[in-house]
Amino acid sequence: MSWSPSSWRDFPIKQQPEYKNLEELHSVEAKLKTFPPLIFAGEARELKKDLAKVARGEAILLQGGDCAESFANFNATTIRDLFKVLLQMNMVLMYATGKPVVKIGRIAGQYAKPRSSDFEEINGVKLPSYRGDIVNDIAFTKEAREPKPEKLLEAYYKSAATLNLIRAYARGGFADLRAVHKWNLEFLRGNELEQRFEELADKITEALRFMDACGVNPDNTPQLKQTTLYTSHEALLLNYEEALTRKDTFTGDWYDCSAHFLWIGDRTRDVNGAHVEFFRGIKNPIGVKVGPTMKPHELLELIEKLNPENEPGRLTLIVRMGAEKIGDLFPPLLRVVKEAGKEVVWSIDPMHGNTYKTDGGLKTRDFEKILSEVKQFIQIHRAEGTIAGGMHLEMTGSDVTECTGSISASITEDTLKSRYHTQCDPRLNANQALELAFMVAESFEEMQK
Ligand code: PEP
Ligand code: CO
Repeated sequence: MSWSPSSWRDFPIKQQPEYKNLEELHSVEAKLKTFPPLIFAGEARELKKDLAKVARGEAILLQGGDCAESFANFNATTIRDLFKVLLQMNMVLMYATGKPVVKIGRIAGQYAKPRSSDFEEINGVKLPSYRGDIVNDIAFTKEAREPKPEKLLEAYYKSAATLNLIRAYARGGFADLRAVHKWNLEFLRGNELEQRFEELADKITEALRFMDACGVNPDNTPQLKQTTLYTSHEALLLNYEEALTRKDTFTGDWYDCSAHFLWIGDRTRDVNGAHVEFFRGIKNPIGVKVGPTMKPHELLELIEKLNPENEPGRLTLIVRMGAEKIGDLFPPLLRVVKEAGKEVVWSIDPMHGNTYKTDGGLKTRDFEKILSEVKQFIQIHRAEGTIAGGMHLEMTGSDVTECTGSISASITEDTLKSRYHTQCDPRLNANQALELAFMVAESFEEMQK
């Protein structure tokens, strides 16, 4: 069946805004098509190779960032602090497992959100739901909730500037292992986690000293002073993704150059729908969310369609069942994929299956449930003899109070509202994310024994 960047338009599509001014939408799309790509296809191929290593158990995947990036929170501090906490988690996981960590941010384009309802009703007033800053505004007014095509351009510019800073941090010395002590965040000070991280940082510094004596140091070995943080987002708004899809001049293949890695959400993964149609033709490494309603035959059909050549690193399955359900629902899926000999990366999103609303009406997730789902995921793989590739988290480097629990943050339902800032779903704060890394690093390490 032929494919083009626009062939998705002939398929049923879910979760899209209804733009009133189509003329303006088309002019914005035409403009975006002339803009430079945000990534180079060769980078997406590198990531695919890295993910093939994850599939073989030679590396660990860490994907994380905001549920929804926001235009209002677009600043250097937000980006830097997420970068820092990802670097810290990277060190924790690397040190415990002895394997490299493939880092992908939910960043530089994570602006479009699927919603459980098309409308939101407050005190008898009914307005279209907020669908992310690339579509409309979060304020509960008619004007704010109107989808505006020009926001696609703003999303592009903000993604470009974010990616620019990420590249600068990754290559410009910020990630130099000699600076490991400086990655600690202000609000970790005095915390038990700070001490744990400092101990690790001391060990790394000691190892560097020894290696320096052997003649290997960050000045002659770039790997010790540089890193790579790939970008990713849910490719929900296909008008935007189509406009940034370009033919790679080296290979003649199509790549969605809005990010290195794109994924299909749990609500838009219909095997005959527009999103799957779009994804089957792009050569990027891609992901699919695998939620509680996924049936084994459906999953096999999706794999067949999205990765017909069984290419390692092409497809990451991101499981998000919830701590109560994963034990029942995941093993049958894992078994059919294993028996069919399909090459996939298995990753766990322990966030989206563990969301609930408090009596006070705030969406939250409990740290214990999150930790439990990750541990069960690893345990199930261990029992089946397959590879637990990594994890996918909604997290921030800021000191927010959105998820309850953890030893280091000790947030309760009552204290949630003190710094509840998310535009959409509750995120782990920096303490909770780092604590999770320490606790699962132990499980990943045990898995190797
Ligand atoms: C998300 O990752 O923000 C999301 C909406 O997830 P899911 O598609 O798994 O519900
Ligand atoms: Co979310």
